[in-house]
Amino acid sequence: MKIFIENTYDQMSRKVCDNIISYIKNKPKSLICLAGGDTPLKTFEYLIQANLNDEVDFSQTTFVSLDEWVGLGKETKGSCIYTLYKNLYEKLNIDLEKQVHFFDGLSKDLKNECKKINHLIEKFDGLDISLLGIGLNGHLGFNEPNVDENIDCGIIELDNTTKTVGQKYFDTNLDLKYGITIGLKHLLNSKRLILIANGEKKAEIVEKTLYGEISNNVPSSLARKKPNFFIYLDRLASKNIINKNNI
Ligand code: F6R
Repeated sequence: MKIFIENTYDQMSRKVCDNIISYIKNKPKSLICLAGGDTPLKTFEYLIQANLNDEVDFSQTTFVSLDEWVGLGKETKGSCIYTLYKNLYEKLNIDLEKQVHFFDGLSKDLKNECKKINHLIEKFDGLDISLLGIGLNGHLGFNEPNVDENIDCGIIELDNTTKTVGQKYFDTNLDLKYGITIGLKHLLNSKRLILIANGEKKAEIVEKTLYGEISNNVPSSLARKKPNFFIYLDRLASKNIINKNNI
């Protein structure tokens, strides 16, 4: 495990971008799993800029979106796929049809959506990079507290915290009940697992993630079982851990 603490969200995001670029330079044909949500947005800006400046070539890279709210698709502003398309995929020099994969939250056959993404991940022999935000309850994707670690992809009933906090992404209040997500089995087996968190509101869950009991009650804590786990924080999110272990 490696913990990186940067002064600002902006500096943290640049470092995360550099980490991804170095991996892709080494292995252009990677499969990258990306979270939606607010935390990665600045990293996405840096990735777009790097792609424009030819610092990184994504032409051989495959992207898979981490998760989706069941019942939502690209048309809904705030859905995971909307966020990723508008803030990243559409602005990269890539073939959207061939290089971008995601769960269709509007599908009538969600199990088949799981199969589709599982098949993709297996074809690549696992995820290369997973770039994940951390929920206030420690969820990774929609792997909510007490989730089964052995799920590869699944449809998960949302925790109350997620239902409430999730409203921040939408213009109107939505009835959020289930999420469809890449499961912990795949995420924890990523060749590089990158968690990111910024802002004071994440300080408590960051502390639990890094220093609490390793338990599926706090899914993000399970990342500590993995040697290739990187966590990037800004100063505010690291507030509760700054005096621990000489950080
Ligand atoms: C988003 C996702 C969620 C978020 C997490 C943090 O696709 O899967 O797990 O990463 O809830 O959200 P933000 O970044 O908005 O604080």
